[in-house]
Amino acid sequence: MSTGRESDWEGVRLHIVSGKGGTGKTTVAASLALALAADGHKVLLCEVEGRQGLARLFDVPQLPYQESRLATVPDGGEVYGLAIDAEAALLEYLELYYRLGRAGRALEKVGAIDFATTIAPGVRDVLLTGKVYEAVGRQGKPRARDRIVYDVVVLDAPPTGRIARFLNVNAGVADIARVGPIRHQADSIMALMRSPQTAVHLVTLLEEMPVQETSDGIAELREARIPIGSIVVNLARRSPLDPAGLRKAASGKLSRAQLVAALTSSGLACDAATVDGLLAEAAEHAVRVALEDTQRKRVAELGRPTYELSRLTDGVDLGGLYELAAELREQGMA
Ligand SMILES: Nc1ncnc2c1ncn2[C@@H]1O[C@H](COP(=O)(O)OP(=O)(O)O)[C@@H](O)[C@H]1O
Ligand SMILES: [Mg+2]
Repeated sequence: MSTGRESDWEGVRLHIVSGKGGTGKTTVAASLALALAADGHKVLLCEVEGRQGLARLFDVPQLPYQESRLATVPDGGEVYGLAIDAEAALLEYLELYYRLGRAGRALEKVGAIDFATTIAPGVRDVLLTGKVYEAVGRQGKPRARDRIVYDVVVLDAPPTGRIARFLNVNAGVADIARVGPIRHQADSIMALMRSPQTAVHLVTLLEEMPVQETSDGIAELREARIPIGSIVVNLARRSPLDPAGLRKAASGKLSRAQLVAALTSSGLACDAATVDGLLAEAAEHAVRVALEDTQRKRVAELGRPTYELSRLTDGVDLGGLYELAAELREQGMA
């Protein structure tokens, strides 16, 4: 049911969304999933941080370790959600490769699964990325075990501070296991992570710290040879004032008489206190816009395709996610 329009990321089958904590990774990942589904695609939206952020966002009960439908896009496709859990992924892996159905549960009882996923460094991330790889790799394979085949997978990923190590964890496995099935699996995952089928998008705000983290994250991903996608500027604001108005507001040179005239003609109060308050607010606004513009320039200097999402005034519910998805589609991200 393709509409024939091209997105900027044709050919990408694994979209990974990272960014500084709290900048809107989960929100952006969910909006991107809805935007991609609007082409009639079946999309899997995964989380790996054990926070049940997707269930909260889509207002559904806690997601089990099972793919369940989160949304059906009108005239489009579907978004499924999966909260990937390292313990469940390990049991599934043992079952799949060693047919350890009951034995696997016995291992769980004696705490071996907890041991493997919490004590051994990196094992968690190997399992989490392994599950993502499995979901992406279903396409083109016979429909084994009645699994849903997805056109594209979106991952609500760990924050920028950990993203390169997380995605690169299997390179370390490949160093340890020189041959055999584990080596083969690790190599296959790294091949996907470093292929043009993968794109890592970084969410930022127009503030110094998140922009710095975006810049650092790009450098680390580049070093790990993992393809960098776009930068998504979240909570972007556009000023109703033009550049000249902003300059005047910042330097306290907005015309008091004009403001009083405008208030009067709108039938609003224009006592001295109100006018002083409004002028002070305008000055603050202008200063903030100038700071944001400085950060916008730094983002542009990073040289990646950039999209902006506006701040939803009523918070982010399902309707809000559809609004953000539409913004992403208008700008060509999906
Ligand atoms: N575009 C937006 N407009 C309004 N609120 C937003 C927007 N994006 C994110 N938020 C809010 O900001 C908070 C953090 O977003 P979230 O997606 O959970 O960030 P992260 O996953 O990076 O921690 C949430 O309360 C979310 O509802
Ligand atoms: Mg989150």
